[in-house]
Amino acid sequence: MPASAYGALGAFPRTRLRRNRADAWTRRLVAENRLSVDDLIWPIFVIEGENRREAVTSMPGVERMTIDLASEAVAGARDLGIACVALFPVVPAALKSEDGAESYRPDNLMNTAIRAIKAAVPDVGLLCDVALDPYTSHGHDGIVRDGRIVNDETVEVLARQALSQAEAGADIVAPSDMMDGRIAAIRDLLDGHGHELTRICSYAAKYASAFYGPFRDAVNSGGFLKGDKRTYQMDPANAEEALREVALDLNEGADMVMVKPGLPYLDIIRRVKGTYGVPTFAYHVSGEYAMLRAAAGNGWLNYENALMETLMSFKRAGSDAILTYAAPDAARLLKQG
Ligand code: PBG
Repeated sequence: MPASAYGALGAFPRTRLRRNRADAWTRRLVAENRLSVDDLIWPIFVIEGENRREAVTSMPGVERMTIDLASEAVAGARDLGIACVALFPVVPAALKSEDGAESYRPDNLMNTAIRAIKAAVPDVGLLCDVALDPYTSHGHDGIVRDGRIVNDETVEVLARQALSQAEAGADIVAPSDMMDGRIAAIRDLLDGHGHELTRICSYAAKYASAFYGPFRDAVNSGGFLKGDKRTYQMDPANAEEALREVALDLNEGADMVMVKPGLPYLDIIRRVKGTYGVPTFAYHVSGEYAMLRAAAGNGWLNYENALMETLMSFKRAGSDAILTYAAPDAARLLKQG
């Protein structure tokens, strides 16, 4: 609506927008957006072994956990009302290789975690990252030939990885690699094996971002990464291209699309939701979480208030669900009201 059109909707002094803000109860009545525990997806990091947890230095409050402790943590998340968790494996260096073949081994850490967590907490959704970077010795999300990340060969491996996760019990497979054509390949392979109800959440508009740094510490892939990911992840300068990425993935059968990172790309969330009206998820990524924690740790921000304001901004922009490392904190705060 052009600004001039507001002339017909009232004017000061008869109209005073502060009236509706004057008391908490009116503010509740006129709130345009709501954040609920139903909107939260909690990403967790899984390590090998038993009864062990490790702090992630660059993500205060986040821990890597062995499968037994991760299962308990997911049960705790369920008790807080969280609907879904996202799993990320921390793959030991000895299992990394040029081609990332560990990624689709039926008994690898990820698939073992999926089976165990699904058995322990069947009513929480499991969203499973599909990408090669935890498994490759060069830290890229694809297979490298002559210094280039080759697309089609990578897609074949990703589809096998997604299938192995679906067979282990993954509810949502979430390709985060940004190869072209991977949604169709994954959909076809899953359907061909009777997994037509396994959902695909595409990291459709994923940018080559500096905000993934702490995540790469958490999964121990950063030290391995040679170069950057700009030949497959999107250029932060581009917005129209994000709409094309999303369109392609929807046409290939994606059930949900994701925009990542979150806060620096709220405009993209808004446009994706406005253009396609499909389930749109935001990823409040590791670097965004780290910034909040770092500022709060120094006494420069109130963590809880800044967190809830951030999560609300995703709802305002049009997100359905939000992946955030702060999901349990947010769930607790929502419970307190
Ligand atoms: C792996 C992957 C990354 C993240 C999610 N999946 C890192 C990357 O692409 O380098 C980042 C998540 C975060 O920063 O919280 N493909």
